[in-house]
Amino acid sequence: MPALSLQRIDGVALITIDLPGEPVNKVTAGLRAEFSDIFATIVADTTLRAIVLYSGKSDTWLAGADIDEFLTLRTPAEAEALSRSGQSLLASLESLKVPVVAAIHGACLGGGLECALACRYRIATDHPKTVLALPEVQLGLVPGAGGTQRLPRLIGLQRALDLILTGRNVRAKKAYQMGLVDELVHPAILLDIAIDRARKLADGKLSVSHAPKDRGATGVLLEDNPFGRSIVFRKAREGVLAKTHGHYPAPLAAIGAVQAGYEKGIEAGYREESRAFGEMTVSEVAKELIFLFFATNALKKDPGVEEPAPQPTRVQTLGVVGAGFMGAGIASVAVQQGTPVRLKDTDVARVGKGLAAVADVLKERLKKKQITRIQYEDQLSLAGGTTDYSGFGRANLVVEAVFEDLALKHRVLREVESALHPDAIYASNTSTIPIGRIAEASMRPNRVLGMHFFSPVHRMPLLEVITTTATDKDATVTAVAFGKKLGKTVIVVNDAPGFYTTRALSAYMNEAGRLLDEGASIEAIDKALLDFGFPVGPITLLDEVGLDVGGKVGQTLFEAFGARMSPSESMRRVVESGRTGRKGRQGFYLYDEEGKKNKVDPTVYELLPHGATRREIDPQEIRQRCVLAMVNEAARCLEEGVLRSARDGDVGAVFGIGFPPFRGGPFRYVDSVGVVELVEELEQLDGRFPGRFAPSELLLDYARARRRFYPAHGSPIP
Ligand code: 3HC
Ligand code: NAI
Repeated sequence: MPALSLQRIDGVALITIDLPGEPVNKVTAGLRAEFSDIFATIVADTTLRAIVLYSGKSDTWLAGADIDEFLTLRTPAEAEALSRSGQSLLASLESLKVPVVAAIHGACLGGGLECALACRYRIATDHPKTVLALPEVQLGLVPGAGGTQRLPRLIGLQRALDLILTGRNVRAKKAYQMGLVDELVHPAILLDIAIDRARKLADGKLSVSHAPKDRGATGVLLEDNPFGRSIVFRKAREGVLAKTHGHYPAPLAAIGAVQAGYEKGIEAGYREESRAFGEMTVSEVAKELIFLFFATNALKKDPGVEEPAPQPTRVQTLGVVGAGFMGAGIASVAVQQGTPVRLKDTDVARVGKGLAAVADVLKERLKKKQITRIQYEDQLSLAGGTTDYSGFGRANLVVEAVFEDLALKHRVLREVESALHPDAIYASNTSTIPIGRIAEASMRPNRVLGMHFFSPVHRMPLLEVITTTATDKDATVTAVAFGKKLGKTVIVVNDAPGFYTTRALSAYMNEAGRLLDEGASIEAIDKALLDFGFPVGPITLLDEVGLDVGGKVGQTLFEAFGARMSPSESMRRVVESGRTGRKGRQGFYLYDEEGKKNKVDPTVYELLPHGATRREIDPQEIRQRCVLAMVNEAARCLEEGVLRSARDGDVGAVFGIGFPPFRGGPFRYVDSVGVVELVEELEQLDGRFPGRFAPSELLLDYARARRRFYPAHGSPIP
């Protein structure tokens, strides 16, 4: 079945892209071949005066290159050749004598946008589904079909670098304002307008200027001369390095391709683009980022239980108990998806504070123009507060987010259950307490599970759903489906203290604490893990999470897992001193009035073993100990069945606890180091620190069998 169809409408060739059997249009080898053929047909047909490129899919115009195809590429030369062939196809599109109009509705991404850029005129629908982007760097790649050359020439250098280096989506209206598209229309008239504009272009009744618009005097001054551009390129490189700490080569390679085009001419720019595309596409970083793309897509389809999975129930009203930090955050994401929320706390002031926090999240979206004033009002009106459980009778899902205290959680559960419909689901947002322990107070433990959101809820992409052996399958699929509706990537784990994410993170933070006990400096520990690729160091993270919270979590996990999780002396003493971290403006670091982090607080050393006398510990050892503690704990979670798969462990660690995305996750990391080598490292560490680093049985098994968690080649999801 062909993907392209050609319809002749009074001298206009309407080409519709509709990849058979696929949810989205993507540029496959087959589609490239069809495009070549259709261009040849059009060149040979002198009755055709113009072309309209249109999509037959409801939500995508063209989602870019077929990412599956990249998995088959082995060498930079193969990938470079693929890019060259894409460039030459779009060059032939651009050089067609007849005008080509891109009629864009839906996602126009990567190679899709590059295709639109090669057209003479672009019309986009003013619709939320219509987004344009060059997301290649998010996959560890660079645009490979001319994007690095055509985009800056169309919209200006600085705007183009912003899009290429972030990969961010641009909505149609913004795209129009920056000159990325020439016209905005309602979806209902897209095709008619596109055909009309195609004719007018052919008849010379419509002319288009594609000079970058509205750049301002400074923009022109910087972008239109070599000296100004050299400043722009230098700043762009500095910006990238400050953000990536040198771990992501693709943005730098993309800057190189854009720069080559300006300094050596567009042909040299295309060559550099292909060379960089070749190198990046087979890089380890791209391999891991592409894995994460496929793993998150696979999770979108995973109902969270073994098939056959029951149908999820639609959440009509959400009850949230505890209008604090997490409760308000959960309410704020629910109302954004149109779910009415009842927010309960102990007194009016607290309820009011929670509702104000919900409003703040919505206001931020309004300010960023992500929602309209009407949407803001509508969403805000969905959140209602209460100090009793009024309205909870309508809720078919309740999330409890009160203080981390088992007795309180038991009391709240009993109160809530008496107000709920028997079929309603009760979820706790506890970060450590086993759900089974919480469910002990329940009359209906089969309706109880955990929904562990991460803070801040409106920004963090992960949700960890925790099920006990008693949890009904339909309760699990409903919690999972609701999490997806809130835009979260959802993993389902089996109940255990700390579940997966808190447990793996605690092992890592604990080791950081022990390094403090041995005299390492706070700065050295944080720097070593930043250098490994974590977004913040473990000591900074402790301050962020709250030292009181960290202390409680540490104690719970110590009670559950014994010696290997025993809290460090440093942590114990700092918690005892009453410091709480950033929220109390006093922790390991100093904070200003607004809570912005300054330097390490020198007085904190007075509390630690060895006082202010710090000793140097090799950064490599700091990294190895903290990371391997986490990896080994993750492996235990898989071995004990807390995790359903290595894939969930990797996605959970990257999206929930900051494991560096370019390393793919703990299990991908084991594969990249080699399980045999990793087990040897653990054994050596265990010799030095008995009882702490004994390799998990699972890792030992994998090492004995020389097995990998993922296949070495081909599809990254087994
Ligand atoms: N290649 C291969 N498969 C793709 C794909 C692509 N470019 N885009 C989407 N898919 C697949 C997904 O893997 C998924 O497959 P599955 O059903 O087997 O799991 C299916 O299409 C549907 O995708 P989603 O579940 O993500 O659907 P959504 O409606 O939520 O989102 C989308 C659609 C916005 C298009 C989203 O899929 C997306 O962002 N895709 C990736 C776009 C991208 O990164 N493009 C750049 C590619 S690199 C490139 O173009 C290089 C060039 O410069 C040469
Ligand atoms: P918080 O202290 O900000 O909020 C707790 C709220 O619960 C307070 O407003 C309090 O008044 C309210 N509350 C206490 N008893 C109540 C009752 N009987 N009825 C109704 N409300 C009551 O705490 P936070 O940070 O929101 O944490 C809540 C839960 O979420 C805890 O279990 C915590 O472990 C968990 N969690 C916290 C994360 C974080 O980063 N803060 C991350 C993930 C989970």
